[in-house]
Amino acid sequence: MARTCLTIILAAGEGTRMRSAIPKVLHEVAGLSLLGHVMRAAGAAGGNAQAVVVGREAERVDAEARRHAASVVIAEQKERLGTGHAVLAARAAIAEGYDDVLVLFGDTPLITAQSLQPLRAALAEGAAVAVMGFRTDAPDGYGRLIEEDGQLVAIREHKDASEAEREITFCNGGIMGLSGKEALDLLDAIGNDNAKGEYYLTDCVAIARERGFKVVATEADEEELIGINDRRELARVEALWQARKRLEMMAAGVSLQAPESVHFCFDTVIGADSRIEPDVWFGPGVSIGEHVHIRAFSHIEGAEIGDHAVIGPFARLRPGTRMAEKAKVGNFCEIKNASVEEGAKINHLSYIGDARVGAGANIGAGTITCNYDGLNKHFTDIGANAFIGTDSALVAPVTIGDGAYIASGSVITEDVPADAMAVARGRQVNKEGHARTIRTRNEQFKQNRRKG
Ligand code: UD1
Ligand code: CA
Repeated sequence: MARTCLTIILAAGEGTRMRSAIPKVLHEVAGLSLLGHVMRAAGAAGGNAQAVVVGREAERVDAEARRHAASVVIAEQKERLGTGHAVLAARAAIAEGYDDVLVLFGDTPLITAQSLQPLRAALAEGAAVAVMGFRTDAPDGYGRLIEEDGQLVAIREHKDASEAEREITFCNGGIMGLSGKEALDLLDAIGNDNAKGEYYLTDCVAIARERGFKVVATEADEEELIGINDRRELARVEALWQARKRLEMMAAGVSLQAPESVHFCFDTVIGADSRIEPDVWFGPGVSIGEHVHIRAFSHIEGAEIGDHAVIGPFARLRPGTRMAEKAKVGNFCEIKNASVEEGAKINHLSYIGDARVGAGANIGAGTITCNYDGLNKHFTDIGANAFIGTDSALVAPVTIGDGAYIASGSVITEDVPADAMAVARGRQVNKEGHARTIRTRNEQFKQNRRKG
């Protein structure tokens, strides 16, 4: 049977250096809160129960945590007395009895499920404590992993470390696994007799060793353990996250012509053989099929795009856009909450909102669906193979039948039956010679002004 696992995420920090009205763990990387990243990684590593330890603005963190796991336990740490004390805020959850307890930090969003697995494996093999270590050239500030005969015996916080211990470059990443059976006993034994006067979670290591338990150090990439304290670090982590995602995309068969200029969201999905030109931005909720061509400077969010579709350059796809196979949206078009069916084309300078564009329909340059009356949004239904002439305004609610033809420059306010042709504009009048009359009159006017 799979081992049960409780993940405790510490997020009670003040986050002062963010200089923000928003709690630190609610800041976003790739469109997802730091907390969301950590919760997803924990979930993917089999953390089937989660607890989040919060301090200030508990309600806001609570709401975000619940979006990711409805059954999450929110534990409040009223006083910030250290990481060991923080974990104990989730005492009730730990007491429910899990095989594994993982402790993560809410401000370390690059952690992956892959790196959490070795901690769980160590617990499964009988360790009471498993620590995620990393090697670094700049160990200042980190807790050092103290080993004897290749065995982890203690973690010494930087402030408490001797000169010799400060030479150690194997550091504590902060993430820890505890055997559920021993967790409360170990945590309750932690004291605060140290340089900071805090209850250090890291003291679990020495306590477990003294009691004869097995303690293990695993090793992860330093990058995964970067914690965010200020906006600079937030931007750095965003860049690292993007770099990672680009490599994943390319490994999965997506072509990126200028990878560093493409910005993905945490949930962007793109099928193999799709090509992304430079300077493309993806917001949340984008799912793209295979052999899709996304041309330069497109801005895409909340859109589902079928195989062989062509988007852009300079296209803006907003939430609720569904592009079927082989559909096309060209330059300076905006699509919102609209379904563009197979092979339909919206090639230039159009706004299509709250609409269906039937298969094979052609939307001429400058077509606008007038979907908003100032209070309500209305629907425009365009049938299959309809032809909408350039510069037409379709005033919703309105239905254009299959195969209908709209003359250029029309303002369509009434439904158009299938295969009908609609013209809704002033009839053209040519006045012979009248242009010359106007010119002469204007010249006369100019001369009179000069004289007078
Ligand atoms: C901690 C580790 C250190 C490790 C480092 C890695 C301890 C004692 N030290 O140190 O060994 O190298 O992380 O980054 O664990 N928090 C609370 N409540 C508290 C205190 C902290 O929720 O009372 C949360 C913070 O919001 C933060 C995390 O715990 O997310 C870590 O706390 P922090 O004070 O940054 O620990 P470090 O001193 O960096
Ligand atoms: Ca820290």
